[in-house]
Amino acid sequence: MLNKFQEALDRRRETGILRTLKPESKGIDFYSNDYLGMSGNEEFQLQLLEMIQKNPKLLSGSSGSRLISGNSSIVTEVENYIAKQHQYPDSLLFYSGYNANLALFSTLPDRHDTIIVDEQIHRSVHDACRMSHAKKIKFRHNNPEHLENILKKQTGPCYIAIESLYSMDGDFAPIQEIAALSKKYNAALIVDEAHAFGVFGYGMIEKYQLQNDVFAAVITYGKALGTHGAAILCHETVKSYLVNFASPFIYTTAAQDFLWQSIKTGYQFLKQNPELSEKLHQNIKIFRDQHIDTPSSAVSPIQAVLIPDNHQLKALQQALSEKVFSTYAVYSPTVKAGTERLRICIHSFNTEEEIIELSTIIKKFT
Ligand SMILES: Cc1ncc(COP(=O)(O)O)c(C=O)c1O
Repeated sequence: MLNKFQEALDRRRETGILRTLKPESKGIDFYSNDYLGMSGNEEFQLQLLEMIQKNPKLLSGSSGSRLISGNSSIVTEVENYIAKQHQYPDSLLFYSGYNANLALFSTLPDRHDTIIVDEQIHRSVHDACRMSHAKKIKFRHNNPEHLENILKKQTGPCYIAIESLYSMDGDFAPIQEIAALSKKYNAALIVDEAHAFGVFGYGMIEKYQLQNDVFAAVITYGKALGTHGAAILCHETVKSYLVNFASPFIYTTAAQDFLWQSIKTGYQFLKQNPELSEKLHQNIKIFRDQHIDTPSSAVSPIQAVLIPDNHQLKALQQALSEKVFSTYAVYSPTVKAGTERLRICIHSFNTEEEIIELSTIIKKFT
């Protein structure tokens, strides 16, 4: 067994794509999903600390699955709060977005159904599809015509899976067009708002008021909110179905109440501090004004710089890291071969000087 594993690792090492766990970077952050700087925001940290001081029990383990001893009045209250905020009938909390997607797509579609996914959908959806008995079909990235061609050929119930803002290209889904198609073909549209939540208000569903057209949404809290966890926004019946049939929800110990309560505090903090997202958007504009070639949207906090040559990409990341910039180079198989890229994440806390210096180095390699 070990030999087999070692051979696979050696192959990765030879092609320069071996993954290893590195110590926490002390560099200037252009790679985390902490778009609004919430995970290092001292005022937010103090609010969380105060919350614990008032009720230290929040930190204790939940003692069981939510269906046994792990359900609390706090988690129920926070779910109601979240549903109301997003104008959905109900919500169901998970301790990660990965688990929320796993629960949704492994549980709702059954063996007679088809899950039609954007080819760039997050890995958690693919993994969920493997757990499900439904058929999976990919449509070309952000291509509603291709999606419609696939929909036309289906005879049974269909689910459509998209992200509102894609995490690798930093481009938006044509969400209104896809919502119209899902309506036309009576398919259930599921939207992952992991990277849009907090950066664009509550996300693109709220922006375009698509609550009635989007069957379920996933909101994650480990990115712009700077905490952890995720919520599925859905109808009460869908929530009850998940509570009854979703293994990733049922067979696990519930998170501590601290997590749920910090998510609610995070929502309130965002409302009270709109300048965080304003500053982020100013910084995105500064980056875009440097005219670096990118497929990403002009307003996205994720900016991809495509460098399909692995050696060139490595050299660029190295040059950046020498100037203490932490960036993320993405190689295949995380992205398709030939689309390897430097993934830049812009934050509210990056300075203009940092953004300009980073851009100057990138330009030397592109
Ligand atoms: C689009 C998308 N969905 C879901 C997830 C998973 O969320 P979490 O990190 O909370 O497990 C991620 C994070 O990598 C993501 O980018």
